[in-house]
Amino acid sequence: MSLYSRLVKHPGWIEVIVGCMYSGKTEELIRQIRRAEIAKQAHQLFKPRIDNRYSESSVASHNQNLQSAIIIDHAYEILDRVNADTEVVGIDEGQFFTNDLVEVAGQLANSGRRVLIAGLDTDWKGRPFGPIPQLMAVAEEVRKQHAICMVCGSPATRTQRLPGVGGQDILVGSDGMYEARCRSHFKPLPSEDSLLTQPPNHGKTEKPHFMDL
Ligand code: ADP
Ligand code: TMP
Ligand code: MG
Repeated sequence: MSLYSRLVKHPGWIEVIVGCMYSGKTEELIRQIRRAEIAKQAHQLFKPRIDNRYSESSVASHNQNLQSAIIIDHAYEILDRVNADTEVVGIDEGQFFTNDLVEVAGQLANSGRRVLIAGLDTDWKGRPFGPIPQLMAVAEEVRKQHAICMVCGSPATRTQRLPGVGGQDILVGSDGMYEARCRSHFKPLPSEDSLLTQPPNHGKTEKPHFMDL
């Protein structure tokens, strides 16, 4: 948030923290919530129930930074559970919510609150993920973070799902299932469907691209 917006009472605000897995989205969200605490601003942090990787009741980063959170099943629950005096609302794992999150974030910001949402911008196939792309469009501020590519050490912008892990769009996990990758080392795995519709190889020895992950 700019110095200007910290000094004046602003009319509500949406900030989106995006990037691939391991890019520090949750760390940044927790940092911002702790700063709100220091500024004595009333705050609440929410996360979807499905994210049970490191903790059932807290927002948790890959390096075990924890901040207690309210667990919800649907974006509209935030409107029911937000306190009248809450000034800062944090939401982690935004990609797991439906597009209702866009409406909810808008209502919270319209009521004068600062809304912080962390989430994956793209999924394991490199496609825009859930409500995050729409939130990026309507947000006042978008912070796009990078991880480190596990193949070459360059800035990573994509999330590689590792072979044999599964083909569903939503699959909660971390190390051993996903890796941060740069553009040139990101090799989206073909879905079962595309494998079936791919033209036959006719004896060519060329390897399918998912073999050289
Ligand atoms: P995100 O929510 O974006 O997945 P987190 O904030 O939970 O990320 O975790 C970020 C932390 O993950 C880093 O501070 C670092 O300790 C750890 N980490 C593990 N693998 C990587 C990687 N490939 N690149 C950067 N950080 C990594
Ligand atoms: P993270 O960004 O905080 O590390 O968490 C991302 C979560 O999203 C993690 O549980 C894995 C999950 N995920 C999916 O469900 N589908 C995907 O396509 C990707 C890339 C991640
Ligand atoms: Mg996270």
